[in-house]
Amino acid sequence: MKNKWYKEAVFYQIYPRSFKDSDGDGVGDIRGIISKIDYLADLGVDAIWFSPLYASPNADYGYDISDYKAINPEYGTMDDFDEMVRLLHGKGIRVIMDLVINHTSDKHEWFVNARSSRDDPYRDYYYFRDGRGKNGKKPPNNWTSFFVGSAWKYEENTKQWYLHLFDENQPDLNYFNPRVMEEIKGILRFWLDKGVDGFRCDVITLLSKTAGLPSGKKRIALTGSEYYIDGDRMEEYLGELQEVLREYDAFTVGESVFITVDKALRYTSEDNEYLTTVFSFDHVSADNRFGIKQLPKKFNLLDLKRALTRWQNGLYGKSWNTLFWENHDSARIVGRYVSDRVNREEGAKMLATVLLTLSGTPFIYQGQEFGTISARMTDIKDYKDVDALRSYALLKKLFGKKKAMKKLAYCSRDNARTPVQWDDTQNAGFTTGEPWLKVAPSYRDINAKQAEKDGNSVLHYYKKLIKLRKGDKAFVYGKYQDLLPKSKKLLAYLRESEYGKLIVINNFSLKTAKFTLPKGIDGGAYTLITSNYADSPKKLGTTALRPYESIVYKADGKNA
Ligand code: GLC
Repeated sequence: MKNKWYKEAVFYQIYPRSFKDSDGDGVGDIRGIISKIDYLADLGVDAIWFSPLYASPNADYGYDISDYKAINPEYGTMDDFDEMVRLLHGKGIRVIMDLVINHTSDKHEWFVNARSSRDDPYRDYYYFRDGRGKNGKKPPNNWTSFFVGSAWKYEENTKQWYLHLFDENQPDLNYFNPRVMEEIKGILRFWLDKGVDGFRCDVITLLSKTAGLPSGKKRIALTGSEYYIDGDRMEEYLGELQEVLREYDAFTVGESVFITVDKALRYTSEDNEYLTTVFSFDHVSADNRFGIKQLPKKFNLLDLKRALTRWQNGLYGKSWNTLFWENHDSARIVGRYVSDRVNREEGAKMLATVLLTLSGTPFIYQGQEFGTISARMTDIKDYKDVDALRSYALLKKLFGKKKAMKKLAYCSRDNARTPVQWDDTQNAGFTTGEPWLKVAPSYRDINAKQAEKDGNSVLHYYKKLIKLRKGDKAFVYGKYQDLLPKSKKLLAYLRESEYGKLIVINNFSLKTAKFTLPKGIDGGAYTLITSNYADSPKKLGTTALRPYESIVYKADGKNA
């Protein structure tokens, strides 16, 4: 396996709209981010993935781009951006942009032109098709959108339908047209020439649609997805993007919905690298029956272990994993995988330990580092996300109003999009104005300032773990082995490499759980590296772990 910077790095995701507002308009901005660079450097992160900073009408808050070469004026100017990149680079922090190229905004000039007439030169940048049935009033096929409902929108003006796998304001780009790929390459060059270090490639595995756009097998969710997820031209498209990326040695992580290990190896294997790495979702998978993202699913440690074993071992030595618990599309992990009421801090620290002791590149989502919990808003008027609002309409039909609201409060993407809780002053120190999305009520107890002050906080624990990982390659390069695949309470694993051996034991339950030293392991060779309890046993042996107790032991290569 090759040693690489991105394998040894810890990444951080910023959702700019909610990170830090500098001018009181209630919307996060670049100058706000600049004011927090010392905080990020102090946390110890090496790279930042920015959710979209580009011009956008905000139908999907930045994931609908109207100009790929402009900064959203709500976030600042191109000069602000350049300054931010310079300052981050000055601290040794790399900059990863979000690359949203499956679709544009319907306000992008390509689409504005395309929809104006059937003969427009941009018409073929998108999928415009005649409808089925009498008068073509039925959509061209039965595909459904990720945001619920048909994936087609009828255009009265030109009497055709266009495809949108997400919101109707996000028309899909047509990669059968080679001009589209040429445009995208120009966009890549534009940002790479500015000095950015790579891209997180939004829903990248949806780019290749099956020719003819055939109707799919009917299901409640994602009908037609067999004709657009990991389509047959995916590698060709990724290869074309690589032509540019390679010149700059750029890093890429592809958001890959429903990806399998085999597919991931096709896209990312070390000797055939189309993408540097992928985001896979098995370990945080939601109940997808209704096509609603993150519908609550009861946490099951055995499912998590199976996912970890599949991915940790599946890619080891051949490719490279990403590690994450949260992002802007999911509810907070504290409250999903551990309680947000009982032993909350121990739980958050345990999840920090797992994140930072597995094989792969860890990504921390803003606020996760001090244990932020989901907002759980109870009034539908407080929700802003298009997915939440559309899902709610469907959930109401399926379960009735009360249950629908409860599910939404548990799973909505807005849960993680509320403003970062910097302190306990009004609006959590995020803005002096009216925040675009309500601050979560937990800010009085859970905030960065408080966490900085408390030496025993989740934040300090993250810092400690990040430092440990960066100071010891055993955390980075060790091979994973699940030591207790059948335990329903304990997640215990070995990481083994030329840099030594680590054993990590985590009690995912709120009850005491007994860890018995597995046969063949010399407990005496291991010493305690860190724990989320002050008095965990110094030596590895049979022991009872307390609620959410998480302990890391290390043995040097020679004496293990
Ligand atoms: C990705 C993004 C999500 C967005 C969608 C459409 O899943 O992470 O936020 O809504 O793509 O661009």
